[in-house]
Formats: sequence, structure tokens, C-alpha cells
Amino acid sequence: MAARPILRLGVLISGRGTNLQSIIDAIERGELNAIIALVISNRADAPGLARAQKSGIPTRVIDHRRFGSRAEFDGALVEALNAARVELVVCAGFMRLLSPVILNAFPNRIMNIHPSLLPAFPGLNAQKAALEHGARITGCSVFFVTPGVDDGPIIVQAAVPVMPDDDEHSLSDRILAQEHRIYPLAIRLFQEGRLEIAGRKVIIRDAPAPDENEALLNPPRTALDIPRSGRNN
Ligand code: GAR
Repeated sequence: MAARPILRLGVLISGRGTNLQSIIDAIERGELNAIIALVISNRADAPGLARAQKSGIPTRVIDHRRFGSRAEFDGALVEALNAARVELVVCAGFMRLLSPVILNAFPNRIMNIHPSLLPAFPGLNAQKAALEHGARITGCSVFFVTPGVDDGPIIVQAAVPVMPDDDEHSLSDRILAQEHRIYPLAIRLFQEGRLEIAGRKVIIRDAPAPDENEALLNPPRTALDIPRSGRNN
């Protein structure tokens, strides 16, 4: 297969930018054939801006409060992203809803990451919601952004256990470690041209199938003393 050209990313942030950092690191390790053409923050005080600058990545602050409407703010985002010749928009802790202005400018070319196993716990404070619900397994999801909130076709998910003594911070940290693995992976699959959207589903070409007998149990099966399920047991 011919190598695909380097992918130009535009990363949108609002805060500390650890997912941005995981993408920077994956590129620097040679695991992702991409460059970050531009990082945009809607907040001037986002610590993620310094991460980008440290790696020599151009940054812009576009403060949503300067705009009269969501559409006008998104218009400014589109203008900046197009000027940087961005091909894939990556939302990484970007805490603004996207309007049709940007969705139509980048059809099927905007990704987001969310700290739950969607469609469970969409919206804000997903880790707290999982804890309060008493979920025993949660995780994170990378998906293509659509007009619905955290509702688009799912590209990659990772599951983690909720520990008996978890608080919001410890659970968020456990999920975040997986976010940093799956976001570069999802972007890589896109760069390699292996993602196809079919309705609600994302088809991944040439991906190894997961082990159908593999399951994360909580409590673990060792605590229950039950045999592993599956054909070979
Ligand atoms: C991440 O946990 C991400 O999943 C979440 O914000 C955090 C950003 O962290 N995003 C959402 O909740 C979106 N609904 P980061 O700035 O360190 O990447």
C-alpha cells in the first residue's frame, strides 16, 4: 500500500492539554504521520498553550466571549483552521459545542474524546456521573463529532474498572491514561485512510479482531471463583 501523505491536524483545547501532549508525543516518537499545524484555545489561560509552544507549534487564542453567537465564533475557528490548511480537527478537552458552521466546513473530519464509554454519561462531568451511578466499568471514547452531544460514530473505546475507593480524581486519572493511548490511535487510523463511516458505525479496514473471549469483569473473576467464559474452558 502506498504511504499516505502527512496529515495536518488542528487541535482545539480549553484547558491543561494532556491529550494534546499525547498527540505531540506520538508524532515525536514517529507513531503518527502527522503535524499539528495549529492549536486553538478559546481560553487565554489554558495551560495546554504552553505545551504547544514548547514544541514549536503555532497557537491562537480565539475567545468565544468576543463573539455574539456560536456561529460567529465557529466561523472564526474555521477561518483559522483553513488558513493553517488543517485536514483533521481534533477536539482535546475543548469545552464548546460545535455548530453546523464548523461541522459543515469539516464533514466527518472532526474528532472528539470523551471520558466515558459512550453512549453512557454524555455531557459534562462524565467521571462523576459514572461514580454516582455506581457503574463498575467505565472508560473513554473517541468519536466523530456530529450535531448531537457526544453522539457521533465511535472510532475507539477503552474500558477501565471503577475501584471500590475511587473518587472523581482517581477515576479520572485512570481513564486519562487510556485516553492518551486511544486518541493517537484513532488519529493514526484516520491518517492511514482506514476509517469509513457507515451510518452510526465506523468500519476500520484491516484491523485485527479483538479476542472475543476477552472481557473486563468487575469484580474480577478471581474474586468470584468462576471459570473464564468461552469455548475453550
Ligand atoms: C479529558 O478527560 C477529556 O476526555 C475531557 O476533558 C479532559 C481534557 O483533558 N473531555 C470532555 O469531557 C469532553 N466532553 P486534557 O485537557 O488534559 O486533554
